[in-house]
Amino acid sequence: MKTQKGRFKPVKFIAGLLLGLLIVPFGAYLYFSGGSAPVATTDSDIPFENFFAHKALNARIAKEMPKTVPIQATEANYLAGAELYKQDCAVCHGLPLLPKTAIAAGMYPRPPLLFEGKGVTDDEPGESYWKIFNGIRLTGMPGFSKSLSETQMWQIALLLANADKLPSSAKAVLVAPIAASTGATTVPLVSPVPPAPPFPNSAPPPK
Ligand code: HEC
Repeated sequence: MKTQKGRFKPVKFIAGLLLGLLIVPFGAYLYFSGGSAPVATTDSDIPFENFFAHKALNARIAKEMPKTVPIQATEANYLAGAELYKQDCAVCHGLPLLPKTAIAAGMYPRPPLLFEGKGVTDDEPGESYWKIFNGIRLTGMPGFSKSLSETQMWQIALLLANADKLPSSAKAVLVAPIAASTGATTVPLVSPVPPAPPFPNSAPPPK
């Protein structure tokens, strides 16, 4: 015959359960409040940071990215995409034949060089479009939905998807020094800024 090991004690059980549940968040709190969590750009990854961040990103993109490209892969679109890329992306994602900028070198996570290796030529243009439109939170990758038109974002997405087979005219735009690109296709990206209102805390004008 088996002997009964002892009676079930609900109070102890619940106390144990609560303690167990609290220990993990408390430990996490100590980790973050204790000043040893990695917060500088040169610190190493938090365990699984990359894995979870990319899992979440990829799941969201798979759900939302457009499956068809609404513009044609014409030379005019590549040229416009190249001009826009130089203005809005090159500082972080680099240009062919040029070394990485100081800004790119100092970022975490690192912005990939999109004209080196395969870049994002293995991604659907719709995936890059999603990233350009929305940006990627907490990485430094800005969203451009407020500053570029849909056509402009598609022009850049198309340029990046075909970075390995661009017409030489588009390559020429990318490697031309910024000041020298006379920019027939360049459009002001943001409307002129209205004059700034006076700072609320500025001293009253002298009498
Ligand atoms: C201020 C810096 C910065 C600028 C400007 C910027 N990006 Fe990014 N971008 C990043 C960073 C950092 C990442 C990496 C994010 C990550 O690790 O998930 C990134 C990621 C990306 C990716 C995903 C790359 C991959 O390998 O999957 C694409 C595509 C991209 N950016 C396109 C652009 C385009 C196009 C522009 C301009 C319209 C642009 N970015 C402007 C910083 C920038």
